[in-house]
Amino acid sequence: MSKSGLRIGILTSGGDCSGLNAVIRSVAKSLMLNQNADIIGVKDGFLGLIEQRVTPLTYQDCSGILSLGGTILGTCNNANPFSYKGQDVSKSVMEYYQQLELDAIVVIGGDGSLSVSHKLSQMGMNIVGVPKTIDNDLMGTDRTFGFDTATTVVTEALDRLQTTGQSHKRLMILETMGRYAGWIALHGGMAGGADVILLPEYPYDIDEVIRACEKRMCEKHYSILVVAEGAKPKNGELTVRERVCTSHDPLRLGGIAEALKQQIAVKLDAEIRATTLGHIQRGGSPSSFDRIFATNLGCYAASLVAKKSFGVVAVMQNNQMTSLPLEQVANKCRLVTTSDQTFISARALGVSFGVTDDNFD
Ligand code: F6P
Repeated sequence: MSKSGLRIGILTSGGDCSGLNAVIRSVAKSLMLNQNADIIGVKDGFLGLIEQRVTPLTYQDCSGILSLGGTILGTCNNANPFSYKGQDVSKSVMEYYQQLELDAIVVIGGDGSLSVSHKLSQMGMNIVGVPKTIDNDLMGTDRTFGFDTATTVVTEALDRLQTTGQSHKRLMILETMGRYAGWIALHGGMAGGADVILLPEYPYDIDEVIRACEKRMCEKHYSILVVAEGAKPKNGELTVRERVCTSHDPLRLGGIAEALKQQIAVKLDAEIRATTLGHIQRGGSPSSFDRIFATNLGCYAASLVAKKSFGVVAVMQNNQMTSLPLEQVANKCRLVTTSDQTFISARALGVSFGVTDDNFD
């Protein structure tokens, strides 16, 4: 094995998700073992490049972290070098990158971070991106790591809500994350046997929702409704929990489960309880699927680094690892469509989306 003298940075940016450490581990270990590379961990995402905070990562640092949730490097979702506290600090970030004598940086991030990566790569930074988000809404990849773990959390929650809902003959509402995409609600809802699933992609008609709940309550005396945080009524607004103006995506969604509960209660003669899962979907150990998937993505990203294939993102398409130019993934959103098989199965099984049939097409 010849020493290539590679010096590679790794950073995790944006909202965390389960599997980040599995990627860090596989990128670092595979570059150390196969390229004899030195690995530099950048602390807290792009903030570490702005504030000049990095740390060398040893083989030991990257061992024993496969099953660990969160990220050992820390992350940040409001440190954009092109707009940081009202200033463009991208030039000083580039100078710091050169000062560190890095050959490349592996950026593990979502659409916002990959968009920043694209701009930095145009300025000369060698970047390989690894897409991450529990939302599963990134363009160009069949799925993202973190999604399977989040969906498993939703499924477990629904299994629990079902037994208590059934015992008390109640309508149980569960709110999932997912931002403007309904993947978590759709997959979690289907895995948990939900009767009604409300998605951001298809604004719901409240009367239709109530009709579907009433039907299920009559049939089996309890019902399960899953609502994505980004779902909204026809001609209505998103339910916003908070505005974070320093973030590239300032709206923090949340609260629709409680709002729906109030709206349904006016017309449905049933006891209703609402639960919001929130960040429980993001924390904790990755599922075995996410561990393997994150490991494969990390090893593939390391191979791109070794080939000096920069300005790209490692993605999975048709079950194969491949890469795409950063600009094809950055700042784009992949939504649920009526041709998705899980969506088709849901309709075939009579799951209500709170939408009349003629409003889907
Ligand atoms: O994008 C991941 C995600 O968890 C979304 O599902 C959710 O809307 C958002 O991040 C929450 O962000 P924060 O952690 O800033 O509250």
